[in-house]
Amino acid sequence: MPKVRIRQHVNPLLRKFQEPITLPEWAEVYSNLEQPIHLDIGCARGGFLLAMAQQNPTTNFLGIEIREPLVSSAIQERDNLGLTNLHYLFGSINFSAVKLLDSLPPNLLHYISVQFPDPWFKRKHNKRRVIQPELVNILIDYLIPRGQVFLQSDIEEVAIEMRDRFADSPFLTQQHSETWLANNPLPVPTERELYVLEDNLPVYRVLFKKGE
Ligand SMILES: C[S@@+](CC[C@H](N)C(=O)[O-])C[C@H]1O[C@@H](n2cnc3c(N)ncnc32)[C@H](O)[C@@H]1O
Repeated sequence: MPKVRIRQHVNPLLRKFQEPITLPEWAEVYSNLEQPIHLDIGCARGGFLLAMAQQNPTTNFLGIEIREPLVSSAIQERDNLGLTNLHYLFGSINFSAVKLLDSLPPNLLHYISVQFPDPWFKRKHNKRRVIQPELVNILIDYLIPRGQVFLQSDIEEVAIEMRDRFADSPFLTQQHSETWLANNPLPVPTERELYVLEDNLPVYRVLFKKGE
């Protein structure tokens, strides 16, 4: 995948992200609109979704990302491969979740992943972290019964915060008795994950299901 030069971190609360998100006609993006949907939040260069979409043609994959050049090049890559079960959106999920999820064919959101979100360590920047309680409520609302939420981070503090925000929901059940899942349940590692694993750093993972 060609590398686009981009800013390392973008503030997701910038005014420009509060503009209404531009959505496509889903029927022009996905060849089969009735397939289950996997939403990946903060998909960056989109390589994870590109591989997932090729391995799972009966699922529609959707990534959302605030760094626009990454979205454009990911779409280009998708088009080069002619994939019709994959799309990438430019926008901040924190300002666009309802409009986006409402626009999708109903009752198909079966999987949500949030992988290695930006940590925003400084206390005054904590509110820039993507997993905020309001967003959690919206995501769970649109997730289908038995749908799953997968979270992972190499920063324990970030993993704990996002896990606890989802765990606060009475609608979700953690799918493992151990505190953190030892292995990634998904067959494709993300770019950040590969980088972390190469350095032998720990990864904190958790999987929830809607319902029991
Ligand atoms: C550390 S990167 C991880 C990328 C990828 N998930 C991985 O594991 O390799 C986090 C990504 O989330 C994006 N991001 C941060 N806040 C976001 C938001 N509110 N909505 C959508 N994307 C966001 C960032 O621009 C960045 O590309």
